[in-house]
Amino acid sequence: MKSILITGGAGFIGSHVVRLFVKKYPNYKIVNLDALTYAGNLENIVDIEDSPNYKFIKGDICDESLVTQIFKEENITDVIHLAAESHVDRSIKDPLSFVRTNVFGTVTLLNAFVSAWKENFEGHVFYHVSTDEVYGSLDEGGYFLETTPYDPQSPYSASKASSDHFVRAYANTYKLPIKLTNCSNNYGPNQFPEKLIPLMINNIKNNQPLPVYGKGENVRDWLYVIDHARAIDEVFHNGKMGETYNIGGFNEWKNIDIVHLLCSIMDKKLGRQEGESSKLITFVTDRAGHDLRYAIDASKAMNELGWKPSLQFEEGLEKTVDWYLENEEWLERVTSGAYQTYYKEHYA
Ligand code: NAD
Ligand code: TYD
Repeated sequence: MKSILITGGAGFIGSHVVRLFVKKYPNYKIVNLDALTYAGNLENIVDIEDSPNYKFIKGDICDESLVTQIFKEENITDVIHLAAESHVDRSIKDPLSFVRTNVFGTVTLLNAFVSAWKENFEGHVFYHVSTDEVYGSLDEGGYFLETTPYDPQSPYSASKASSDHFVRAYANTYKLPIKLTNCSNNYGPNQFPEKLIPLMINNIKNNQPLPVYGKGENVRDWLYVIDHARAIDEVFHNGKMGETYNIGGFNEWKNIDIVHLLCSIMDKKLGRQEGESSKLITFVTDRAGHDLRYAIDASKAMNELGWKPSLQFEEGLEKTVDWYLENEEWLERVTSGAYQTYYKEHYA
């Protein structure tokens, strides 16, 4: 029987991965290890918390003795590692917390996996979930391929790049059975409103200024979070051992165009006049070292695994807006307290 340790399963993407695995694989035991930082929220997975094949453990991936104990007591066979500090703006203010969780935490998990299975790795997988940001920034042309050299430009992407290198180094040195994915920007339900799309939805709803960095010309490739969770399922079960797969939506948008589209969707939903919400757009000081463009070529995952995004962006965005409007209490709870302090300091 598989007993899979999913780290960061109370966060945005992790909660969708935990739900998919708990529901789809009743024969697997899913152990969710999450420190419940500001970004982790057990409400994200309240619907599956009583499932017989699910267990939550509150704890830090950097805590070596806890991680070792979990491997023993839960007889962990595989790892899907998502726990991370994930927000670029926060990494600019406090890089060391990114080094701690993303690098030290990843190596702690790798060590526990090596100790648990020694050289007997047959049938086990250490799956590391990473980002396209490790490849750096593109000009107007070209795509990130799995072979694109790493060129991280922010403390966040440098810490994720470092964790990717450690995972591959363990595969080379200790023959660890690894799989990696590097995914583009995710959006969808349960994303913490420090990231572009939920932040804009929250501010449009509350008639607050919409802070667009620089001129809003930066481009990101957006993927609905459930499509990312489906890709992780596919790669975990059918991806080749030792391989990396790029995951993305072939769906590039300039930030300013997304903000306009959100304004227009929400004008309709909130009964406002067309154009009313876009008056809230405010151009603010650009992010330091702001990457211009990310664009993923996900052909390898599509061709080898038959995975593809299931939703058009406009449809996914509308579903996302609906979720935030229907889950006002979730939004109010996560934007109270510490969020207010972060917001005031960052957007002062
Ligand atoms: P998130 O910030 O929403 O969630 C991170 C989770 O990790 C939270 O539940 C938090 O409590 C937990 N965590 C943080 N530090 C921890 C620690 N030391 N020990 C245990 N748990 C800890 O992040 P997300 O957006 O869901 O991203 C998940 C993963 O996917 C990350 O590894 C990220 O780099 C990667 N990723 C994210 C995106 C994106 O667009 N959000 C895109 C590609 C890859
Ligand atoms: P973000 O959601 O932080 O993801 P990432 O930086 O990892 O791609 O930001 C997405 C884009 O939106 C990025 O180009 C920065 C921009 N942005 C704004 O213009 N205003 C904001 O308030 C935020 C949070 C982001």
